[in-house]
Amino acid sequence: MHAVKDKVVIVTGASEGIGRALAMQLSAAGARLMLAARNQQRLQALAEQLPGEAEVCPCDVAQPQQCQQLVAQTLVHFGRLDILVNNAGITMWSRFDDSDDLEVFERLMRVNYLGAVYLTHAALPALKQSRGSVVAVASLAGLTGVPCRSGYAASKHAMVGFFDSLRIELKDQGVDVTVICPDFVVSQIHKRAIGADGQPLGQSPMQESKIMTAEQCAQLCLTAIGNRDRLLITSLRGKLGRWLRLLAPGLIDRIADRAIRQRH
Ligand SMILES: NC(=O)c1ccc[n+]([C@@H]2O[C@H](COP(=O)([O-])OP(=O)(O)OC[C@H]3O[C@@H](n4cnc5c(N)ncnc54)[C@H](OP(=O)(O)O)[C@@H]3O)[C@@H](O)[C@H]2O)c1
Repeated sequence: MHAVKDKVVIVTGASEGIGRALAMQLSAAGARLMLAARNQQRLQALAEQLPGEAEVCPCDVAQPQQCQQLVAQTLVHFGRLDILVNNAGITMWSRFDDSDDLEVFERLMRVNYLGAVYLTHAALPALKQSRGSVVAVASLAGLTGVPCRSGYAASKHAMVGFFDSLRIELKDQGVDVTVICPDFVVSQIHKRAIGADGQPLGQSPMQESKIMTAEQCAQLCLTAIGNRDRLLITSLRGKLGRWLRLLAPGLIDRIADRAIRQRH
């Protein structure tokens, strides 16, 4: 895609799932990439597979200093930053009244919400200079409640509130903010979801044949990023639900409940 050609892009959570698929599509479209996540080996393997220029930087987004380091390394290597994709994220799978370990709620906020805040703060001076854009991969759970995902939904609502506010602040400085709200996507996140005992589930509870692939999601993300769109919702039920919620909020609750019970 023309709009991302030669742009310097940081993608967090690039070692798996949506971030990995997006990195592949950005690279094919001519972007110059800084790939970030905690697993350096997986990042390196991806970088070697990409058609375009790509560097890797191990980074735990929950650590502000590592976020600063990621931006510094990007500027040393590429000399500029055009697009920051805050994609790294984790999820949970547990009713609140079954959750014994409240540390999970803190962890979800630190990675999903504060991680994006720390990194965006570190990247803003460079993004202002390039009149670039910030992308926040939130979730449909950032727009509505979802059972068994209360802490995750809270972290994604926080992301949406933060980035919607930031967009207004940056309006006159040429920096755009794109919020992406995917519906369910096949990725590692479901089997890594933190269960009631504070441990990863180990296997995905989703009906993966019935949900979007990471490649399909990345394709939609690429278009939204290229167009510097304000908001991307990846499913029809998500798009309709946004409006229906105003008229019939109880119906939206039932749809969210059914989606979790039916696992797609
Ligand atoms: N899949 C879905 O159904 C879905 C739906 C809506 C929204 N989303 C959102 O999409 C984003 C990507 O998720 P995904 O589904 O692609 O999940 P995934 O396959 O589990 O990938 C998550 C990525 O985030 C990285 N990550 C996790 N914790 C991190 C940390 N502390 N610091 C840096 N990187 C970290 C992981 O790499 P390391 O483990 O190597 O760090 C991995 O690369 C998330 O924000 C998620 O909430 C997903």
